[in-house]
Amino acid sequence: MSYKEALQHTIFKIISKSAKELQLDTYVIGGFVRDYILKRGTHKDIDIVAIGSGIKLAKQVSKNLPNNPKVQVFKTYGTAMLKFEDLEIEFVGARKESYSEDSRNPIVENGSLEDDQNRRDFTINALAFSLSENDFGELLDPFNGVSDLNNKIIRTPLNPDITYSDDPLRMLRAIRFATQLGFKIEEGSLNAITKNNERISIITKERIVTELNKILESDQPSVGFILLEKTGLLKHLLPELTALKGIDEVEGQRHKDNFYHTLEVVDNISKHTDNLWLRWAALLHDIGKAPTKKFSKKVGWTFHGHEFEGSKMVYHLFKRLKMPLNDKMKFVQKMVFMSSRPIVLAQDDITDSAVRRLVFDAGDFVDDLMTLCEADITTKNSKRFKKYHNNFKIVRKKIIEVEERDHVRNFQPPVSGEEIMKTFNLKPSREIGIIKEAIKEAILEGDIPNEFDAAYKLMIEKGEKLGLKKHEKR
Ligand code: CTP
Repeated sequence: MSYKEALQHTIFKIISKSAKELQLDTYVIGGFVRDYILKRGTHKDIDIVAIGSGIKLAKQVSKNLPNNPKVQVFKTYGTAMLKFEDLEIEFVGARKESYSEDSRNPIVENGSLEDDQNRRDFTINALAFSLSENDFGELLDPFNGVSDLNNKIIRTPLNPDITYSDDPLRMLRAIRFATQLGFKIEEGSLNAITKNNERISIITKERIVTELNKILESDQPSVGFILLEKTGLLKHLLPELTALKGIDEVEGQRHKDNFYHTLEVVDNISKHTDNLWLRWAALLHDIGKAPTKKFSKKVGWTFHGHEFEGSKMVYHLFKRLKMPLNDKMKFVQKMVFMSSRPIVLAQDDITDSAVRRLVFDAGDFVDDLMTLCEADITTKNSKRFKKYHNNFKIVRKKIIEVEERDHVRNFQPPVSGEEIMKTFNLKPSREIGIIKEAIKEAILEGDIPNEFDAAYKLMIEKGEKLGLKKHEKR
């Protein structure tokens, strides 16, 4: 079958022409072909296989392109890359590859297209369109990848034990594709992943996190996390999550399974936000519950301080996975730390001062926090579900009102420390902190408005109470 219409972009004509000049059979393979057949939109990363030198072909293509874009050569891998318009095009020579048991370095030999397709991860990623002049657009599908696409199946071209031990990252990729595309992993493959799950330890953290992020960015991330758990991969990657699994029962009292609860929260939040870090926060919001879990006869199951414990664990988890220890990590920590605040607030009468404190503490992230807390409502009791959601609607409304009136988001004290020092002729001292704190508290409580005059007046009162004298200008 011909797929000429997939190859209308000038880049394919130029690659075809260059391949002819070098007398190389050449194909576009992998994600571009898969996503074209799936009608998933245009894949911007294009993988080209040449039966011969991929590097030479890349150089020839650059010669034939306007402006002769720079060719980046990766000698150790025998690959080359160039950019054209919004496309990134990678060139590789077809390879016959096998990995020796004791070394992760592949033994690479030149091979045919079929050799190259054989050593790819999945049948749906081994599909190729020919770019040769005589059969331009012809589909090459030796493993029935199209039928797997139609039947929504992830299958390896070779015996899965071989495919996965060649590159254990593929175990994660299988789960990631299953999640992204809504596909099923074929049983033999699933068994092989389970059997080889420990081999994930030889993969770099960066590559692992890329896949975890893609799972989290899917429409229904729970699909991936359930597969990760089932295959035993999750305990190697995120043991903090597997520790949340299970329901304990003492004297007839049970707590919920916090693992499945967490996955529900992640799915819920994914309907409302594409923010990857907010999705991470949802995934990690309850991790402090495993180490803080206690049972007492009086109150049953408790998880006191799990938010604080959880936010500390976020740091260790990010560090272990070599994730960025920057403002993104701090954001996740803050969300985890504050994750129970709106719930507690919405259980009582919702006072202005409680809302002001929430806005003050959450700052610019108050909306994200509300989104997290709404997603956290997983009760199956429809009355309670409604009640919490209604209360959160009130909280959201009050946040806007309080914000318009009091401006406590990113609070700047209306009277500065310098002003206090000048007024009472003070050197830096404890009293300044006391006065500043009193002003902040009065504003958050709603005793005074967030304005200079009222704050100045309170400063004088507090100062006098502390035995300070207003400094008269001489
Ligand atoms: N591939 C592989 N084994 C891997 C990674 C990649 O066999 N561990 C092959 C697959 O044929 C894949 C191609 O290399 O289609 C390109 O890989 P990559 O760009 O990582 O993935 P895509 O399939 O293009 O998909 P996506 O862009 O969604 O990651």
